Amino acid sequence: MVRGNNETNGRNAKERDTPMTDHDKMLKLSRRTLLTGAAGAATLAVAPQLRAPAIAQKAPLKVGLMLPYTGTYAKLGKYIDDGFRLYVEQKGGKLGGREIVFVQVDDESKPEAATDNMNRLVGREKADVVVGTVHSGVAMAMVKVARDTKTLMIIPNAGANDATGPLCAPNIFRTSFSNWQTTYPMGKVMFDAGIKKVATITWRYTAGAEMVSAFAENYKKLGGNVVEDLTLPFPEVEFQALITRIATLKPDAVFSFFAGGGAVKFVKDYAASGLNKSIPLYGAGFLTDGTIPAQGEAANGIKTTLHYADNLDHPANVAFLKAFKDKTGNVGDIYAVQGYDAGALLDIGLSAVGGDAAARDKMIAAMGAAKIDSPRGPLSFNKAHNPIQNIYLREVRNGRNEMISIAQANVDDPARGCKIS
Ligand code: PHB
Repeated sequence: MVRGNNETNGRNAKERDTPMTDHDKMLKLSRRTLLTGAAGAATLAVAPQLRAPAIAQKAPLKVGLMLPYTGTYAKLGKYIDDGFRLYVEQKGGKLGGREIVFVQVDDESKPEAATDNMNRLVGREKADVVVGTVHSGVAMAMVKVARDTKTLMIIPNAGANDATGPLCAPNIFRTSFSNWQTTYPMGKVMFDAGIKKVATITWRYTAGAEMVSAFAENYKKLGGNVVEDLTLPFPEVEFQALITRIATLKPDAVFSFFAGGGAVKFVKDYAASGLNKSIPLYGAGFLTDGTIPAQGEAANGIKTTLHYADNLDHPANVAFLKAFKDKTGNVGDIYAVQGYDAGALLDIGLSAVGGDAAARDKMIAAMGAAKIDSPRGPLSFNKAHNPIQNIYLREVRNGRNEMISIAQANVDDPARGCKIS
């Protein structure tokens, strides 16, 4: 389902030749079935951009937001969307002097619909840039279309290793992480904590498999023992049988990846079983990012690794959290940061070419060389366009993910299989 807030979207050829008044535009918006709830609100929130002067120097740059606005990852998609739009708003609705308009599609975290959705964005909707998505399987389908059509794409979450590995391309950037990157450092953290035997648990799809594998790569190298890998299909949340299996296995600790609505349910179910008292829960930071208000006390004491922590006190994070709260009324999280930084990265590219996205090589070179003072800390990019960033060890205390230490500084994904030199 594609929704746009740009002037031409949804109008026939004759209508497009007739200038729309502001009143027409608002009517058009209200007649159209907007995405309900948060995403709809986000669309309406940028409606004032429609009042931009009719004769602009250059046509607006169209950003396609392909994100999950429904399903277990709906909140993640909304925060990325809010973060990106916050950055654009802070720049007066323009990046590199070029007015930005949006078209958005709900990808529902469904890989089977991803190719069609992406083709529609770059084909019919003629998006100049696509920002998406959350789910690794959906992102992989998008990457293939982006490579074929040479569409500029910025991934604001999905960690699929291959996107900045064998399928890396000059026109594909990521402002989030690779699945390898977030959990590799956890292998050492858990081994150094004296944990000898671990059971892992996750959803059976790319992100879960790659995060568990990166953790295990480091943990086993150091001498740790993974006693069993437990999985269930994405996005199922019937955890009971697997939690019972953990009780039988009696590992020293559990390593897990879940996110969004599924992470809320897993953490609550695990605490309800009482196992958290004897077998501590560890994980990729997504387990507790943006989820603590819904998890409540069940999340207390969970240790995770991620490229963000709630109490990072450098000025960029303090200012970001305030601005995000002022705009949305919500507390920013890693997803909001990744969306915000996708805006910053596009701004750097467009600024280098005076807003002329046709000067593609120059724009891409500027983005590749970007050094961003991100809310997460220093952010730069490797040759495959994956972030180089600190990975923090965090613990849930006082209802937030507090940083304990930098688990590994300036972590650079190995970009295995990437041919860009
Ligand atoms: C992914 O599918 O790559 C993914 C989804 C949600 C997260 C992190 C990674 O929180």
